[in-house]
Amino acid sequence: MKALGFTKYGDPEVFEELELPKPKASEKGVVIKVLAAGVNPYDGLLRSGAMQKMRPLEFPIVPGSDIVGEITEIGSKVKNYAVGDIVIGHPAIGGYSEYVATPSYNVVKKPKEMTIEEAAGLASVGITAYYALQVAKLKKGEKLIILGASGAVGSIAVQIAKEQGHKVIGVASSKNADYVSALGADHVFSYDRDDLSQVLHNKANVVLDMSFGGKGSAEGLHYVKRGGRYVSLTSLPENADEKKVKAIRMKRSKDMKDKEALGYLADLYRAHKLQLKTAEVLTFDLRGVIGAHQLIDKKQVAGKLILK
Ligand SMILES: NC(=O)c1ccc[n+]([C@@H]2O[C@H](COP(=O)([O-])OP(=O)(O)OC[C@H]3O[C@@H](n4cnc5c(N)ncnc54)[C@H](OP(=O)(O)O)[C@@H]3O)[C@@H](O)[C@H]2O)c1
Repeated sequence: MKALGFTKYGDPEVFEELELPKPKASEKGVVIKVLAAGVNPYDGLLRSGAMQKMRPLEFPIVPGSDIVGEITEIGSKVKNYAVGDIVIGHPAIGGYSEYVATPSYNVVKKPKEMTIEEAAGLASVGITAYYALQVAKLKKGEKLIILGASGAVGSIAVQIAKEQGHKVIGVASSKNADYVSALGADHVFSYDRDDLSQVLHNKANVVLDMSFGGKGSAEGLHYVKRGGRYVSLTSLPENADEKKVKAIRMKRSKDMKDKEALGYLADLYRAHKLQLKTAEVLTFDLRGVIGAHQLIDKKQVAGKLILK
C-alpha cells in the first residue's frame, strides 16, 4: 500500500511516497481504508525531529492520528462493527496511509450528516477538549475562562462546556471574536484588543489554557480566583502556589478512553450542538502533505487541515 512518510527528520520536503505492507487486523482490531486524514501541529513536531527524545520511533515514520475511513477487515473478537462501516479513528500513528490497523476501541461510527472533512479533523482535538473539561472538574455555577477559544481544541471545549451548562468566557484574537460568540461563549475578550489583566482579573474559578504553546500562561494566573484551578495543555504559570491555585498540566491517562470522548462528540454533532471548522482541504498525495506541513509550520491555521 502507499503511505506518506519520511526516513529522516527535517523540513516538509522530507516527505516521500512509501510502499509499505498492508496491515492486518488484530483479534480486537479493525483495518480501515483511509478516506481522509487530519494534520495536527504534533505531526509537524514528529517530522522536524522535535519529538525524537520524547517519543523515539524507527524510520520510516508515517504520521497521522486522525482519520476517517471504511472498515475493510475486522478481528475475530470485534463486535458492533462490520465491513463497510464508515468510522472515525484515532490510531497512535500511521494515518497518512491507504490503510490503517487500529484497535476497535479507538473508533466510532461517523454520524451520517458529518462530512468526511469534519470527521477527519475531529479525533485528537475533540478527545483533548473533552478530557480537559473532565480534568477541570467544573462544579455547577463555577465560571470558566478558555484561553485559545478560537483554536482547534478551544473551539470544541467552548461548545462542550456550554452543553454541560457552564458559563464560559472565551479569549481569542479580535478577528475571531465573532466566531467564538457564535460557538456559544457568554462573553468574548481579545488578547490583541482588550486589557485582559483589567477585565479578567480574578474572574474565573477555572482557566483552561488552550492557547498556542500556552501563550496565555504568564498572564492567565491573574484571571483565576484564589483557590481556583488552572488547567493547561502546555505550559503552567509560575507562582500558582502563592495564590493557592491548583495548576494542572493535562496529560493523557489510561482512564481516558477515545471511544467515550468520540461517542460523546458524535452525539453532540447529531444533536446539532457541535460546529467543526475546516481550514483547508489538500490532496492526499505528496504535494498535499508537503503543503499541509508548510502551513502547520507557519502556525497560522484557523481550523483543521485535511488530506483527502
Ligand atoms: N491539536 C491537538 O490535538 C492538541 C492536543 C494536545 C495539546 N495541543 C496543544 O494545544 C495548543 C492548542 O492547539 P490547537 O490545535 O487548538 O491550536 P490552534 O488551532 O492553532 O489554536 C491556538 C489558539 O491560541 C490562540 N492564541 C494565539 N496566540 C495567542 C496569544 N498571544 N495569546 C493568547 N492566545 C493566543 C489562538 O487565537 P487566534 O487564532 O484567535 O489568534 C487560538 O485560539 C497547542 O499548543 C498544541 O500543541 C493540541
